[in-house]
Amino acid sequence: MQEEQGTLVMEAYLSSIEAEFSLSKQKLKELTNLFQEELENGLKRSDAILKALPTFVFNLPKGTEIGKFLTVDLGGTNLRIGLVELLGSGQFTIKKDSKVIPDGLKSGSGKEIFKFIAQNIETFLEHPEIEAELPLKLGFTFSFPVQQESLAHGTILGWSKEIEGKDVIGMDAVALLQESLHSLGLDIAVEALVNDTVGTLLAQIYRDDRTRMSVILGTGSNAAYVERCSQIPKLKGKFNNGRTVINIEWGSFGDGCSCTILPSTRFDRILDLESKNANYQRYEKMMSGMYLGEIFRLILVEAVNKEILITSSDLISKPYGIKTKDMSKFHAEFINENIENCKMIIKGKFGINIRSDAEVQMLSKLCEIISLRSCYLCAVGITAVHRHLLSWLSKEKIFSVALDGALYQKYPNYSKILQDLVCEMDMDGGAADACRVVLVMAEDLSSIGAAAAIAAQQFK
Ligand code: GLC
Repeated sequence: MQEEQGTLVMEAYLSSIEAEFSLSKQKLKELTNLFQEELENGLKRSDAILKALPTFVFNLPKGTEIGKFLTVDLGGTNLRIGLVELLGSGQFTIKKDSKVIPDGLKSGSGKEIFKFIAQNIETFLEHPEIEAELPLKLGFTFSFPVQQESLAHGTILGWSKEIEGKDVIGMDAVALLQESLHSLGLDIAVEALVNDTVGTLLAQIYRDDRTRMSVILGTGSNAAYVERCSQIPKLKGKFNNGRTVINIEWGSFGDGCSCTILPSTRFDRILDLESKNANYQRYEKMMSGMYLGEIFRLILVEAVNKEILITSSDLISKPYGIKTKDMSKFHAEFINENIENCKMIIKGKFGINIRSDAEVQMLSKLCEIISLRSCYLCAVGITAVHRHLLSWLSKEKIFSVALDGALYQKYPNYSKILQDLVCEMDMDGGAADACRVVLVMAEDLSSIGAAAAIAAQQFK
């Protein structure tokens, strides 16, 4: 009897959470329209909510470029260093190494981050398997917002993904890295600065020139796409011919006065307020890998406070104590019906004491609700960009989107659900006969794109 009552309370709680997190078709349409409007504002003005940053990549790779380049990719979690060889005909090789960015560095000075990169490049080059002779040209993937004035210059506008580094805001990311390299006596020239979305897009274009857009769903989330220079009024006609790449920095959608449009729940509001960049990157905070685990944790805290679940661990009281990758593993085990493994993850990684299988089911439902909303929100951004470009693209043409990031690659069913959603939205519930948006997995390619950015300038 008591158990039955407990199940009823749990079901009622789950339904209330589901109602808060679900998005109606009407809401999705509103969000898509607003996204398109904000993108078009971003192309006009530099103070718009979506920064829509011009990247100064004017020569898109053709796939024929060749050459050896050093690459560095600074993301929110890892530093990756590589030696890339572009072989032409869309082929390449890469020797690479990766290092987790230490937490102390994330909350310290930005200059130290650049020193850390240079030191790791030095160590990488000393490795016997890396047969590289200096001087080398370096393509720098920097996954944070920068205002570029050329391909090898970019003012850091701010950090995201819980990195602090305030001392370097307003400084040139290329000069910072170049100075750190020179102080170690390394004859390396930083020749291109690209965002990870831009690197991924260029790499996928190198492999397949039908690619038009890229999306990262990793620690953070963002997208880039190929735009006509004539449609970027803020370039003031300086580069009126041809095409370029726009880094949307879409994580800031819904910031500022349009914030009430985002379907934020009380959990999103707490997460935002307690984050290092409150009021910023709200769309990203509802969608990317850095934050889904934290949203999940905040719901668990409430469920424990309401005595729906119990805990004897302090794991859930620690901000960011639950990682999205563990949510993802747990959800995958649940889908594969490995309930015993689910229980181990729940105890070890979520700190919840499970009393019944119904509770396991409840937790998996919560993961589904949170990850599904992330998928819906991402579909909004992709659909809005596609609509913005529709008049330019020929109607029958495929709109190929390159996707990367651990959330997209690893979260169970995420890629399939996202593909179905963008098709449903593209076909407007059946109004069009075929889906033109094709999502392609572009795993770990952003360094290849940084190399291709340099090569495409040389081979234009
Ligand atoms: C954050 C950064 C953005 C990056 C994205 C994905 O949103 O601001 O530059 O592309 O994370 O890594």
